Amino acid sequence: MLLLPLLLSAVLFPGGDNEHAFQGPTSFHVIQISSFANSTWAQNQGSGWLDDLQIHGWDSDSGTAIFLKPWSKGNFSDEEVTELEELFRLYLIGFVREVQDRASEFQMEYPFEIQGIAGCELHSGGTTVSFLRGALGGLDFLSIKNESCAPAPEGGSRAQKFCTLISQYQGIADIVRKLLLETCPRYLLGVLDAGKAELQRQVKPEAWLSSGPAPGPGHLLLVCHVSGFYPKPVWVMWMRGEQEQPGTQQGDVLPNADGTWYLRVTLDVAAGEAAGLACRVRHSSLGGQDIILYWGRSTSIGLIVLAIIVPSLILLICFALWFWRRWSYLNIP
Ligand SMILES: *[C@@H]1O[C@H](CO)[C@@H](O)[C@H](O)[C@H]1NC(C)=O
Ligand SMILES: *[C@@H]1O[C@H](CO)[C@@H](O)[C@H](O)[C@H]1NC(C)=O
Ligand SMILES: *[C@@H]1O[C@H](CO)[C@@H](O)[C@H](O)[C@H]1NC(C)=O
Repeated sequence: MLLLPLLLSAVLFPGGDNEHAFQGPTSFHVIQISSFANSTWAQNQGSGWLDDLQIHGWDSDSGTAIFLKPWSKGNFSDEEVTELEELFRLYLIGFVREVQDRASEFQMEYPFEIQGIAGCELHSGGTTVSFLRGALGGLDFLSIKNESCAPAPEGGSRAQKFCTLISQYQGIADIVRKLLLETCPRYLLGVLDAGKAELQRQVKPEAWLSSGPAPGPGHLLLVCHVSGFYPKPVWVMWMRGEQEQPGTQQGDVLPNADGTWYLRVTLDVAAGEAAGLACRVRHSSLGGQDIILYWGRSTSIGLIVLAIIVPSLILLICFALWFWRRWSYLNIP
């Protein structure tokens, strides 16, 4: 009988907890940023990411990876990791040399920056989709579509020329294909498993209210702060009863230093209408028990009063009892 309401709520509110059954990242990608200052000076930055969590850095001086988590190697052996580091090291050296050699042919003007992102993503049903995109000076340049180089419209004739050039290097294409379609999905599954204790953890948010700078005369800016939660998906809304307030403004979900997240959600209201509004927070870690904070109902003052009065009262009663017992003891021999 006790199970029935639970089952019913799972059926009636499928968007509730079930949605959060599989939390955590679903993709791995590496990022390359190559800065070319002049014809002789260039610098590479590399990093590896699970969604928006960085798990690898790259030391360009030694040409080795930096493992930012104890589980960053996933289930790959040390030999395979060393092999991959060697491959990336040679690639980055070759990439810089090739770009510098062909800079004038491609009419590149120093300084410029090249960015690349490549990786794979887990989709429902266990399939993985791989991707690779390159940008020049922050504009899309090319991507890999259907296993071949596709110039981006923003890349112009330069991107078309580059794709034509790269298609002549069959050896490179084979390595890239293997990395994207074989190595990446295998690594992704392994690393998601190796790091699951951290990646699938649930950390409850704390929430508090404050007022922001007045948006105008007679208006209040109600601010709801939600901090320290993990994973990232969260739902925060200003409410009047069960009514969502459409003027609710969400900030960006910002990272805390400890890997948890922070969100600020505001509402601009006429001063007279603030009473009765509440900030409601829904997060997978709360197990359906939303946090609800009411504006102007100063729970903090109530709590302080309670915290002072209750112990004082207890103390008083104890003292009275002690006094009474002592008095009766003295008076009734
Ligand atoms: C190239 O750029 C680097 C870094 O900005 C600078 O230190 C160096 O002097 C430059 N070299 C030339 C030949 O301009
Ligand atoms: C992908 O490439 C294959 C062979 O090169 C071709 O037969 C197929 O039509 C392409 N698919 C798309 C969506 O372009
Ligand atoms: C790592 O885990 C993946 C997925 O479970 C598996 O396919 C692979 O064989 C494992 N080992 C290595 C060395 O990749």
